[in-house]
Amino acid sequence: MKGIILAGGSGSRLAPLTTCTSKQLLPVFDKPMIYYPLSVLMQSGIREVLLITTPVDQDRFRALLGDGSSFGIELSYVVQTEPRGLADAFILGADFIGSGPVTLILGDNLFHGDGLSTMLQDAQASNSGATIFSSHVDRAERYGVVCLDGTGKPVSIEEKPRVPKSNLAVTGLYVYDNSVLGIAKTVKPSARGELEITDVNRSYMLQGSLSVTQLSRDIAWLDTGTAEALLEASEFVRSLQHRHGLQIACLEEIGLQRGWLDIQMVEKASSLTRSSGYGIYLQKVCDNYKK
Ligand code: DAU
Repeated sequence: MKGIILAGGSGSRLAPLTTCTSKQLLPVFDKPMIYYPLSVLMQSGIREVLLITTPVDQDRFRALLGDGSSFGIELSYVVQTEPRGLADAFILGADFIGSGPVTLILGDNLFHGDGLSTMLQDAQASNSGATIFSSHVDRAERYGVVCLDGTGKPVSIEEKPRVPKSNLAVTGLYVYDNSVLGIAKTVKPSARGELEITDVNRSYMLQGSLSVTQLSRDIAWLDTGTAEALLEASEFVRSLQHRHGLQIACLEEIGLQRGWLDIQMVEKASSLTRSSGYGIYLQKVCDNYKK
C-alpha cells in the first residue's frame, strides 16, 4: 500500500499565519502539523509516501523530512502548481500510485486513538472499492457529509451542504483501489472551481463500492482550519502527552517500533534535537529500548 499526503492549498483561512509558510508546517504544540498525518500512514504500515506541496513550500518540506530515511520510509515529492482540488492528488500521483491501491490523508487532519490503525489496516486489506471514515460533528455543513441507511450503506454524500442530511462528516482519510485513477480523470471542477474528492466518493457510492467506517468516540479527529481550532489541537496534544508521558506522532519512535530504523539512527536523531522536549523524549525511547 502506498500513501499520499496532500499538503498544498492556500491556507487562506489562517492568514497571516500562512502568508510566508505552509499551513501544514505550522506547529501543533511541539511539532509541525505534517508529522501527525504522516504518523497515521506510518502506523498503518505504509512506507512509501508521496507528499504533494505548493511549488514555493516544497524546499521547506524537504528540509524538514528529507527523503524519509531518518524515519525509515521512502518519501517522494510532487508539486501542485495551483490548488485544483483534492481529487487532483490522483492525477498528480498517478505514476507514484502505479497499479496498486492508495491511502490518501489530508495534511491538515489530525487523528488520535488506539483503534485507528486497525480500522485503517482493515480498510487497506480489502481489495476493491473505497473506504472513507466518518466522524460525528456538530457543524456538519463545514465538511463533506455522508448519509447512511439502516444497514450502514451510504445513500448520499455531499460537499459542504447548506442543510446537512446527517451529522456524519467525511474525514480527510481515504483508502482507494486503483480504479480511483480512472475516476479522478472524469471529475469536473465544482462551482468553487475544485476537483472535489466528494465527487470521487460519490462515483464509488453509485457503483455500490463505497464503504463508510464510522470512527468511534475514542478516536479523536481534530480540525486545524481556524486559529481557534489550531490552538485547541495544540492543547489536546499537550495535555495528552503531559498526562501519559508519551509523544503523539513521534516519527522516529514509530520507525523504531516497526523495525524500520535501528537504535543508532534514533540516537542520532535524538542528538540532533537534544535541546528540545522532542529530543529528550527520543533519548528516553532509546534508553527504554536498550533495557
Ligand atoms: O477535513 C475534511 C474535509 O476536507 C472533508 O470533509 C471535505 O469533504 C474535503 O473537501 C476537505 O474539505 P476542506 O474544505 O477542509 O479542504 P481544504 O480545501 O481545506 O483542503 C484540505 C487539505 O488539502 C489542506 O491540507 C490543503 C490541501 N489541499 C487542498 C486543495 C484544495 C491541497 O493540497 N491541494 C488542493 O488543491
